[in-house]
Formats: sequence, C-alpha cells, structure tokens
Amino acid sequence: MDKLVLALLGIIYILGTCSAEFTPADNYLVNCGSMVDATVSGRVFVADNSQSVVLTSPQTQSIAANTSLDSVLSFDNAVLYQTARIFTAPSSYSFKMKSSGRHFVRLYFFPFRYQSYDLAKAKFKVSTEDVVLLDNFTMPSNSSPVVREYSLNITREMLILTFVPEGNTSSFVNAIEVISVPDYLIANSAQLLHPIGQYLGLETQPLQTFYRINVGGPKITAENDTLTRTWLTDQSFIQNPAVAHPVTSQGNLNYQKGGATREDAPDSVYNTAMRLTNGSSVSNMTWRFNVDGRSSYLIRFHFCDIASTSSHLLIFNSYVDNWSASNNLDLSEQVLGVLAVPWYVDFVLQSSDPSGKLTVSIGPSGLGNVAPDGILNGLEIMKMNISTGSVYVVKPPSASKRQLPIILGSVLGGICAVIIAIVLCVIVRRKTAKKKKPQTPLTSRPSSSWTPLSLNGLSFLSTGTRTTSRTSHTSGTNSDTSYRIPFVVLLEATNHFDEQMVIGVGGFGKVYRAVLQDSSKVAVKRGNQKSHQGIREFRTEIELLSGLRHRHLVSLIGYCDEHSEMILVYEYMEKGTLKSHLYGSDQPPLSWKKRLEICIGSARGLHYLHTGFAKSIIHRDVKSANILLDENLMAKVSDFGLSKTGPELDQTHVSTAVKGSFGYLDPEYFRRQKLTDKSDVYSFGVVLLEVICARPVIDPTLPRDMINLAEWGIKWQKRGELDQIIDKRISGTIRPEALRKFGETIEKCLAEYGVERPTMGDVLWNLEFVLQLQEAGPDMSHINSMNHISGLHPNTQRISTLEISTTDESLLVDYSQMSASNAFSQLMNTEGR
Ligand SMILES: *[C@@H]1O[C@H](CO)[C@@H](O)[C@H](O)[C@H]1NC(C)=O
Ligand SMILES: *[C@@H]1O[C@H](CO)[C@@H](O)[C@H](O)[C@H]1NC(C)=O
Ligand SMILES: *[C@@H]1O[C@H](CO)[C@@H](O)[C@H](O)[C@H]1NC(C)=O
Ligand SMILES: *[C@@H]1O[C@H](CO)[C@@H](O)[C@H](O)[C@H]1NC(C)=O
Ligand SMILES: *[C@@H]1O[C@H](CO)[C@@H](O)[C@H](O)[C@H]1NC(C)=O
Ligand SMILES: *[C@@H]1O[C@H](CO)[C@@H](O)[C@H](O)[C@H]1NC(C)=O
Ligand SMILES: *[C@@H]1O[C@H](CO)[C@@H](O)[C@H](O)[C@H]1NC(C)=O
Ligand SMILES: *[C@@H]1O[C@H](CO)[C@@H](O)[C@H](O)[C@H]1NC(C)=O
Ligand SMILES: *[C@@H]1O[C@H](CO)[C@@H](O)[C@H](O)[C@H]1NC(C)=O
Repeated sequence: MDKLVLALLGIIYILGTCSAEFTPADNYLVNCGSMVDATVSGRVFVADNSQSVVLTSPQTQSIAANTSLDSVLSFDNAVLYQTARIFTAPSSYSFKMKSSGRHFVRLYFFPFRYQSYDLAKAKFKVSTEDVVLLDNFTMPSNSSPVVREYSLNITREMLILTFVPEGNTSSFVNAIEVISVPDYLIANSAQLLHPIGQYLGLETQPLQTFYRINVGGPKITAENDTLTRTWLTDQSFIQNPAVAHPVTSQGNLNYQKGGATREDAPDSVYNTAMRLTNGSSVSNMTWRFNVDGRSSYLIRFHFCDIASTSSHLLIFNSYVDNWSASNNLDLSEQVLGVLAVPWYVDFVLQSSDPSGKLTVSIGPSGLGNVAPDGILNGLEIMKMNISTGSVYVVKPPSASKRQLPIILGSVLGGICAVIIAIVLCVIVRRKTAKKKKPQTPLTSRPSSSWTPLSLNGLSFLSTGTRTTSRTSHTSGTNSDTSYRIPFVVLLEATNHFDEQMVIGVGGFGKVYRAVLQDSSKVAVKRGNQKSHQGIREFRTEIELLSGLRHRHLVSLIGYCDEHSEMILVYEYMEKGTLKSHLYGSDQPPLSWKKRLEICIGSARGLHYLHTGFAKSIIHRDVKSANILLDENLMAKVSDFGLSKTGPELDQTHVSTAVKGSFGYLDPEYFRRQKLTDKSDVYSFGVVLLEVICARPVIDPTLPRDMINLAEWGIKWQKRGELDQIIDKRISGTIRPEALRKFGETIEKCLAEYGVERPTMGDVLWNLEFVLQLQEAGPDMSHINSMNHISGLHPNTQRISTLEISTTDESLLVDYSQMSASNAFSQLMNTEGR
C-alpha cells in the first residue's frame, strides 16, 4: 500500500514537472545529406531522405555529401557535421507549421571537401518567403563549424527555407532545426537607447542571435537549456576582469509573475553572475562584442540579485555603447521587493557603432547612500533587420496552389512530385501503349513526363550503351541528365522513321511519336541535315535543356549525333500545343480558369529561365505553338533552339540577329536588334491576347486593321473594351475584375519599350492575382495594400452574376475523348520558321 502511494506520488510528481516544461508544437530536427537519423544529446535529427522531410530540388542538383568522422570529432554535435546536402541550383526544405508564432530556426554549417565540391568556397543565400537569413554567405576561413540561430515569427502554414547558390558556386547545409518557442519570449516593445523612447513592433521582427552569454557562469549547451539554446561564457568578452568577480548561488530562485520564466533563461543563467568588486577605485565592468556596424540590435540584460543580503543594497547603472540604459536600477524594486527574482529588460540600439564594436557596461550608481556595486547574470544580443536582400522561394509542389503568390522564384521539383510524376507516367504509358490510340492530336514539339528519373528508373536504354555526356550547365555545374541514345534504338522506336509516326514538321525537321522498349512514349525530333537551323541550334538545345529541370519546361530525354544525325528526344506531351486548343481545330474550348492556369504555368517556366541561373536565359521564340500541354493540361514551355543566355552583368542586352516568329516579335528588338528578357515578356503578352481572343496572331484574311492581333488587341484594351473582342465561348465566365487585371497585364507586357514592361516574375504575380480575383470574387480589398497591385479601380465593382464553372474533372473527361483534326495538321505545316 505504501509503495502504491509512493508510486502514485512519484507519477504525480513526474507529471507535475513535465507539464511545467514547455513542449514545442513544431519540433523539426533534420540531419541533412544523411541516410540515417542521428542522435545528438538525446535529440533525434532525422535523415533528410526520410518521408517526414520535404526537400524540393531540381534533379541531380541536390547532392548528399559526407566526410570522415575523424575530421569533425573535435566539435560539439560532430555527427551532424559529418554529412551535408549540397545544392547546385536553388532548392528548398519546407516545414508544415502546427503553431503560428515565434520559432527558432537553426542552421548548421561545416565546410569540407566532397568530390569536386569544396564547401569552404561556397557562397549562397538562404531565405524564407519573408526574410533573407543569409546573403552572399561564405564560411569563415578557419574551417570550423558555424551555427546560425534565428528567431522568426512564422504566421504562414508552411516555412520554406530556400538555399540559393550565388556566383557560380554551390550552397549547402549540414543540419536544420525549426522549433516553436513560447510566444512571450519576445515582447512587442522595448526601450530605445538613443534617442530615448519606446520601440514598438518587435512582435513581427525577425531576429538573429549574435551572442547569448551566461555571464559569470559555465557554458550551457542545448541539453541543459529549457529551449535547447547554447549560452557561452563571458570570458573572452569581458574587458577588465580585475574589477569584477563571479558569484554563484545554490539557493532557490524566486520566479515571480511579472519577472522572467525558466524559458527566458534556465536557472543556471540566473544562478551565476559577475559582480562589481568593492574596491577603492571602482569602475565599470565592460564586455565588448564584434557586430555589424550601423545595424539595429535588440539587447536583453538578464538580472537576478543572488548577492545581496537585503533589499535596496544593490543599485547600479547599465550602459550600451556609452548610452545610458538603466539608471540607478534597484533590482529588488522590479518585482515584489524580494531578492533572487529572475528578471530581464530589453533595449533596442538602432544603429550600432560604425567600428563594428558593441559594448555593454555595468557600473556603480551615482547615489551617495549605497556602496558602489553592480551585477549581470546573462546577456543576449540579437540583430534586427537581418538582411535587405530580396527573398527567393522554391515552393514545394503542393504549396503552389491557392496561396497568395509573392513568388520571386519558383523552381518546382522535389521528391514527391517526381514520384507522383513517375507513377502517373508509368500508368499513362502502360495505358497508351496497350490501346494504340488512333493519332493523338499533336504538334511539332511534344513530350510527357518528368524525365531524368524516368530515365534512370525505367531504364529504357537497358539494351543500348548508355553514355553519359557531361554538358555544360548554364550555372556552371555538371549535370548527368542528358543521354546519348544509339541510333538503332531510335530506328526501332520510330519504326524506321515511319511517316505514319510524324506528328509535326518544323523548320528544323520532322517530329515523330516514338515508343521505347519499355513502352514509354517520347517525341523524337530529327534534324533535317539541309536545314539552315542546323547544328548550332541542335547544340544550343542540348546544352540548355540538359541543364534545365522545371515542371513547366519540356524535358530533354536524350539525343543522338551518330552518322551526323541531329536527333533530340523529348518527353511526350499528350495534349499537344496550347495553340491547337485555342483555335483552328475541333477540340472543345478550354475553360477560362484552365486557360489562366496554363498562362500561369508557362509564365512560371519563363520566369525560371530568366532568373533561375547565374545568367538569364532568353527563350526568343515564345508563342502558343511552343507551349505544350501534358495529359493533365499542365503547361510546359518548349523549343529552346533559339534561346540565348542573357546579358552579362555589365551589359544590358545581347546584340543579335533578329530571330523569332512573326506576330510575336518584340518591336524594340526588331528595330534595334537588342535582345533582353523583356522581348520574351512582349511575346508572352501576345500569347495572353491569343489565349483570351482565341484567334491567330496574324490572320491575313481579316480586314487590314485586324490582321495583327497585338496591334488590334491593344487598341481595344486601351479603350477599355477588351471584353468586346474576347472568345465568345468563355466571355460569360470571366469576372470583370479578373478581365480588367488580365487586360492591364497584357497592356504592360506589350509596352513599346522593354524598360516599361514588367519582369516575368511580375507577370506571373499578376496572373496569379487574376486567378485569385476570378476565384475569390470581388472582395479583395485586403490585398489592395500590397504594392504589387495598382490600378484597381474601386468604382467598377460590378459583380458578375454568372456562375463560375469550376468543374475541372468534367473538362478532363471531355478532353480525353478528343481526336486529331485535319485542320490541325494543316496548321502544323505553316508552323515552320
Ligand atoms: C561516405 O559514405 C560512403 C557510403 O556510405 C562511404 O563509402 C564513404 O567512405 C564515406 N566517405 C567518407 C569520407 O566518410
Ligand atoms: C551580394 O553580392 C552582390 C554582388 O556581389 C551585391 O550586389 C549585393 O549587394 C550583396 N548583398 C549583400 C547583402 O551583401
Ligand atoms: C567561377 O568560375 C570560374 C571558372 O570556373 C572561376 O575562375 C571563378 O573563380 C569562379 N567564381 C567564383 C565566385 O567561384
Ligand atoms: C506574430 O505576428 C503576428 C502579426 O503578424 C502577431 O499578431 C502575433 O502576435 C505575433 N506573434 C508573436 C509571438 O509575436
Ligand atoms: C548538464 O546536464 C547534465 C545531465 O543532464 C549534467 O551532467 C551536466 O553537469 C549539466 N551541465 C551543466 C553545465 O549544467
Ligand atoms: C564596500 O566598501 C565600503 C568601504 O569601501 C564598505 O563600507 C562596504 O561595507 C563594502 N561593501 C561590501 C558589500 O563589502
Ligand atoms: C565609450 O567611451 C570610452 C571612454 O570614453 C571610449 O573609449 C569609447 O570609444 C566609447 N565607445 C563608444 C562606442 O563611443
Ligand atoms: C561607466 O561608463 C559610462 C559610459 O561610458 C560612463 O559615463 C561612466 O562614467 C562610467 N563609470 C565609471 C565609474 O567609470
Ligand atoms: C527595419 O526595416 C524596416 C523596413 O525596411 C524599417 O521600417 C525599420 O525601421 C527597420 N528597423 C530598424 C530597427 O532599423
């Protein structure tokens, strides 16, 4: 019986102590680049190839690297530094947030050599959707580990940490922690040091921990802290140790309401301190820290009077950079007039000294009636306004939908998408191979899957010799994603280039539908050796495409250059060109929403071309015939034969002979032969017009002023009457607000001069906004404050009374029934450049 009572008491005691501790709602610990989980001081860092981690990275550009344990053994948390994930293209980790509010985000870095990668030379950016954590970041030269800790108020459902290589280097990370902390950890206000006042707005302020010091006490590591923080000793920061001496207390601390809590700092911080030594010549105790000059800092002093024998004896001053912080501070007056009460006070230093030094001092008060004294238990220095750079986001595939897009970069990929794509494409291929569909509607430049993995995974070259060609990637890295395919394999796949298999003809040559040995479908583009668009464009396409992996860009599966053949093999795009779905064929019309989604997808692909690499890539031939649709009507940009890498940093354009397609050509480029990414924006503007008007960009059968769609459309748009000329089949389903924004976007894209046109990123944003307007209805007033939105006129709040069709599934069913049209193949023949 006694034992039972004891056991019960024990349980109650354990429960009691447990519930007093803070349990983080979000607690992500990731061991990057590792195949196995690692346990560090009782905390489990999961391998980043495990299911619970969402890593979004272009294929082959995320490398799991390791080094020997011996080389890291001398560091704390050695096992975390033994592996790293290296990225050669923008990539992200995303974390679903269970709780909104303050979180610690910790990043671990240790530079080592792995194969051809020297991480000590890496230079990169790390950003969330709202804040740039690191910019132009390089490792310090002493090759020791670096841990960066941030305190972020995360209110989104998902935290996306994007790693972006800068220069022509790579980025990397060894481990990541994302952990909820109590909301009260950072209050909204603090005292301003100079000018004296109150600082408001800490609540939303991102902070970076610069220093966290257990003054007068030992180092505290994650396992002994209430929030897994690390507290360093003050030994290397104190300037005049002679005037101070450490004090420690074993006694109980009097935690009080209104004072600090155990989460603010653990007992071992408040139980140790530095105290001013009572001597004949009393001066200040001063600690000095290296910080970034001219930056803002939040400075938190932790106090606890563990030294006095009664109240009102310990009264002192504190200073930051010679500015007075607290004057005649009497700790026993702060909370309840008792001793040993943990307490802290926050100050904001708006601009640190240009020298990059920050000093904190504790000195005697000026009062005559108390002995000179002073104490400090702990100190935290946190940088505010971490970086001014612009954020870069690589969204995980599932996060792209239904979020207000403030997307500056969007590279999609990632494990989930690839797996899903493979599964889908295996299913589709199985089905299609069995059915032997009668002439699928097609196009000059087709395809249909996520290639690199389907290549490795399905091994369609199992009988052929697979030679890897290392082509140069635009960002200067190697990629193994382009494969040389033996001619015999292609002969077989196309039934000896059977004319029956031709699905398109272009200036380059013919495009064949082909079925590989594993019965997967591909599109084979065979260069015409007499073609004037010869070998150079063949090379361009191989080089550009083999480095490009994006959900909205058609993938190159391989090529063949045997017997002076020029053959490119692409993923097969089941649903053909966007153009064929707009006019000139008997296919059912695409819904307005589907059209918008296609525009958004292609804008994303182009935006990636323009910004995803060190040098931007200009497509030069943006048109509806070069936007292909997969079996789900998802858009992918194709045909990179004319693409050029953009201007070097010191130039603003590339001078080049004018190429492109009539009707889409940027007039400025035409006149001045100066190519910029804004030429693509112009052409894309024409595509947008084509999408909403559903007519050819050049139609010589029409009256003179209507022949050129760009000229004609912009005339109506400028009159505010775009609604008069849009596709009658969908005009009833477009909300006026959405149409207005769409029209404005077109108008901006078609601006006379490139400088006046938006970037592809802006276009993307605007299109996503159009989709929001279309779906969310007219009440978008809360978004009006965002600077992206201009020209929303409040006087036009007519609400469309028409029902908006959102039955995508039914549309898909319809489309699966469609068949090829004769009109279509005629169109294809006029397609050649
Ligand atoms: C990295 O991991 C591989 C596979 O586990 C192992 O063979 C290799 O020795 C490791 N390299 C180092 C430097 O530890
Ligand atoms: C990073 O480097 C680029 C170019 O070297 C420079 O323009 C930019 O201002 C730098 N950013 C930061 C935050 O130092
Ligand atoms: C970029 O690559 C070139 C040549 O490979 C090299 O000389 C240069 O140092 C690299 N730049 C950076 C920032 O690593
Ligand atoms: C986080 O920011 C939101 C406003 O964006 C604010 O309402 C909330 O109180 C903040 N949370 C904390 C813990 O500061
Ligand atoms: C940390 O905790 C461990 C056991 O939990 C203990 O052995 C160690 O002394 C503690 N260290 C400090 C600095 O308190
Ligand atoms: C400090 O020194 C003064 C005289 O110098 C003495 O009166 C006082 O008692 C001392 N205080 C402590 C706490 O030792
Ligand atoms: C503070 O004052 C000391 C002594 O006057 C001086 O040496 C130091 O440079 C000052 N520090 C700052 C940041 O102004
Ligand atoms: C302590 O430092 C402050 C600011 O630099 C200075 O005004 C004060 O005179 C110093 N006190 C002593 C005792 O040196
Ligand atoms: C931080 O940056 C914001 C916006 O750039 C600015 O409004 C604010 O004043 C800055 N805060 C500090 C403490 O410098």
